[in-house]
Amino acid sequence: MKLCIIGTGYVGLTTGACFAEVGHDVTCVDNDEAKVALLQAGGMPIYEPGLEELVHKNVAAGRLRFTTSIAEGVERSLVVFIAVPTPPLPDGSVDLSYIEKVAREIAGCMTSYKVVVDKSTVPVRTGEKVAETIRRYCRARVDFDVVSNPEFLREGYAVEDLMHPDRIVIGVQSPRPVPVMREIYEPFRAPIIVTDLNSAELIKHASNSFLALKISYINAISILCEATGANVQEVALGMGMDHRIGREFLQAGIGFGGSCFPKDLSAFIKIAEQLGYDFRLLKEVQRINAEQMDRFVKKITDTLWVLKDKTIGVLGLAFKQNTDDVRMSPAIELCRRLLKEGARLRVHDPKAMPKARAVLPEATYIEDMNDVAEGCDALVIATEWEIFKKLDLERARRVMTHPIMFDGRNLFDPREMERLGWIYKSVGR
Ligand code: UDX
Repeated sequence: MKLCIIGTGYVGLTTGACFAEVGHDVTCVDNDEAKVALLQAGGMPIYEPGLEELVHKNVAAGRLRFTTSIAEGVERSLVVFIAVPTPPLPDGSVDLSYIEKVAREIAGCMTSYKVVVDKSTVPVRTGEKVAETIRRYCRARVDFDVVSNPEFLREGYAVEDLMHPDRIVIGVQSPRPVPVMREIYEPFRAPIIVTDLNSAELIKHASNSFLALKISYINAISILCEATGANVQEVALGMGMDHRIGREFLQAGIGFGGSCFPKDLSAFIKIAEQLGYDFRLLKEVQRINAEQMDRFVKKITDTLWVLKDKTIGVLGLAFKQNTDDVRMSPAIELCRRLLKEGARLRVHDPKAMPKARAVLPEATYIEDMNDVAEGCDALVIATEWEIFKKLDLERARRVMTHPIMFDGRNLFDPREMERLGWIYKSVGR
C-alpha cells in the first residue's frame, strides 16, 4: 500500500519506518528542511531504540523516503497520515493550527480519492473539522475519507509498541475506508476496533488520562506508606496482581512528565470544560503530580538543610528511561528547583545530555555516571534508567562528603543501602 506520513516527529518517523518494515511503500514528509536533509543523509533527529537500523534498512530497500513536499507525498499515496505536533496553548487547550494547515495543503494537492488519517493526538471533533476543511479547500472536487487512528506508542519503546500494538483504533464517518485501513494493519496482527470518529478521538485522551491517574493514585498511596512505614512497592504489587487493576503504571516516584501526559491531561480537562463538564478528578491528578515534586524537594531540603553552596549529583535528565527526550521532564524540573535553592549540580544521563544542555546550561555535565559523586554532598536519582542500578556505590561513598542518596525512582533497596552506610531516602518506602 502506498502511504504518506506528514510530520517526522516521534510518532511520524517511527510509524513510517514500521509501515515500511511490513512492506508498505512510505513517503515521509516534513517542512523542516534541515531534518529532512539529515534523514536523507542517514542521520537521526531522535534517539529511539532500534529505529535507526529500521530506517536505514527500509531506505536501502526503496520502501521509505523523505521529502519536504506534501504534494509529492500526496500524489504518490492512497492514504495520507497526519502526524504533526498538537502543542498546548497557554490556557491548556490544544493548538490545532498545524493540523488545520496540513489539511488545507492536502486538500490543495489532491487529484484523486484519498484516505486522510489523523494520527496526532487531538480533541474530540477534530476529525469532523478536518473533513470540513478538506471539503472547503479541495480544488479538484475529488472524493476523500477522514479517519481517526490514534497512536499509543511510548517513547523509548516506540518500535516495539508499533510492531506489537495492544490494539488498533480506527474511527470512521462511513464504512468506505475500513478495508484500506484493515489492509494497512493486517501485518501487525493486532485486534482492530472500528468505531465512529468521535469515539476514536476520545479513546486516546481517555486512555492517557487514565494512565496518568494510575500514577497519581500510587503516588498518593506513597504518602500513606511513608506515614505508616509501609512499602509502596509491596502495596502496588498486591494491588496489581488483581488483573482488573494490572501491575503497570503503579510505580511511585517524582511524578509523570514527558510531552504527552501533562499536555493531554490539560487538554482533556479543557475539552471537558468546553463540553460543559468540570473534570475535577483529572484536576486532582494534576495536583497530586505537582505536589509529588514539592514533597521530594522538601525531603532533600529537610535532610541537607541549606542547599546554597552544596554540590548535588543528579543521575537522570530524561523524562523517563530509554529516551533522550527532556520535554516536561520531572528530572529537569527537579534540577531547576535545586538550582533555585542555590545548589551546584553535577549531572549525568545516558542519552539526554545533549538535549538537556540546551535547557539546563547551569549544570556541570559528567560523561561517566560513576564520576558524578565526586565532591558531592548528596546524590539524587531522577530518572528510572536501569543502568543506574549498576552505579559503583562503594566508589561514590568514598568520594562524597557524606553518603546521602535521594532516590526519586526507587531503584535501590532501602535495607541494603543502610547496610552499606548510606542515608537513603526514596518514595513511599
Ligand atoms: C505515554 C503513553 O504511555 C503512551 O501510550 C502515549 O501514546 C503517549 O504518552 P510516554 O509519554 O512515552 O507515553 O511515556 P510513559 O512511559 O507513559 O511515561 C510517562 C511518564 O510517567 C514518565 O515521566 C514516567 O517516568 C512516568 N511514570 C510511568 C511513572 O512515574 N510511574 C509509572 O508507573 C509509569
